[in-house]
Amino acid sequence: MKQDLIIILDLGSTQNTVIAREIRNFGVYSEIHPHDITAEELQGFENVKGIILNGGENRMVDGKEVEVRPEIYDLGFPMLSIDYPQSRCEKQMNGSIENALLEKFVLEDCGAKTNWNMKNFIEDQVELIRQQVKDKKVLLALSGGVDSSVVAAMLIKAIGQQLVCVHVNHGLMRKNESENVVKVFRDELHANLIYVDATERFLGKLECIADPEEKRKIIGGEFIRVFEEEARKLEGIDFLGQGTIYPDIIESGTKTAKMVKSHHNVGGLPEDMQFELVEPLKQLFKDEVRACGVELGLPHDMVYRQPFPGPGLGVRCLGAITRDRLEAVRESDAILREEFAKAGLDKKVWQYFTVAPDFKSVGMKNNARVFEYMVIIRAINTVDAMTASVEKVDWNVLERVTSRILNEVENVNRVCYDMSPKPPATIEFE
Ligand code: XMP
Repeated sequence: MKQDLIIILDLGSTQNTVIAREIRNFGVYSEIHPHDITAEELQGFENVKGIILNGGENRMVDGKEVEVRPEIYDLGFPMLSIDYPQSRCEKQMNGSIENALLEKFVLEDCGAKTNWNMKNFIEDQVELIRQQVKDKKVLLALSGGVDSSVVAAMLIKAIGQQLVCVHVNHGLMRKNESENVVKVFRDELHANLIYVDATERFLGKLECIADPEEKRKIIGGEFIRVFEEEARKLEGIDFLGQGTIYPDIIESGTKTAKMVKSHHNVGGLPEDMQFELVEPLKQLFKDEVRACGVELGLPHDMVYRQPFPGPGLGVRCLGAITRDRLEAVRESDAILREEFAKAGLDKKVWQYFTVAPDFKSVGMKNNARVFEYMVIIRAINTVDAMTASVEKVDWNVLERVTSRILNEVENVNRVCYDMSPKPPATIEFE
């Protein structure tokens, strides 16, 4: 292994990720593991230089204080025990002492080398993937999102043709998105890629379905069925690749932290399909995943793309989806993205997109009365997507976008700008 490793054992502190990032800021790789890891599992890691026992607010689980296994103390690694105080003021004071103490522990007491960088991380993960997979095959659902793209690029580097990627086009992707996945992964990275155009199947199932939750359920459920059908056609697959990243693990609940929401990177496969998981990004934070993608040579647009919901344009073509309105959303979204990029707003605004409601309004085109759709532009800024404020987009940019949508997008005669913050509105409309 290229990188030295500091292991943080989670004894119920909400500061685990802060400490992990702090150590990575010193240039040393760190990983967070559950408190009840065995001595054998710990010895299985190469290059462990020290262990941090990180206790805190959530140390009491089911009325008992969680502890590490006693044999961990006999392994001979340098150890640092941290227990976070409760009061905010004490926490802040401790913060600065902490930092210096942590740096001394990592660099001096453990003697860890500052060799954490993406190049070394990738080399280490490539070696670990090869050790795990050997000559077997790995299946991966490649949506084209940041996490699945980066994990695909990593797996291609590690095992090449032993990786089988499946890209399901549900017909609700943005303009040229599926084509781009095929271009990058099949044509440029020479991935073993199965492309499934399931547009008709999805749109058929969604016909006349207006309820947002029902639409989401249909899209999610159908995705699993299509992926499962493709998986069953393949033989000799033992592993499933997943773009799980560290925040997914935390939000899904750890042994000391409660679940926020469960994450299913491939939507949850049936129980009779048993695969061993390959999750090389599971210790990374989002910005690190992007840096990893850049280092692996993925295009900038793919790595720095804005968040896009799993159900895609399906939740932006409001109410019961119709093909003409879906096209209006897809085309207007492409225009918005193009104009925002020209104005440099793509680097400033957190998320921006268009939606089309399921009603028409009266207008005039070529001296004749028309009855057509409306497109609503939404552009918001946020830190964590829990609350959001509206971007004050320059009027000239809005005029250019509006003019292009009205001239270039069929069946649209009106463009509006959504002024609602979250709360009370959510970022998406459905
Ligand atoms: P809301 O609409 O809840 O959205 O304010 C918060 C953020 O989550 C994104 N979003 C999704 N992301 N699958 C995803 O991966 C989904 O089903 C989904 N729905 C909403 C949304 O785009 C925003 O960034």
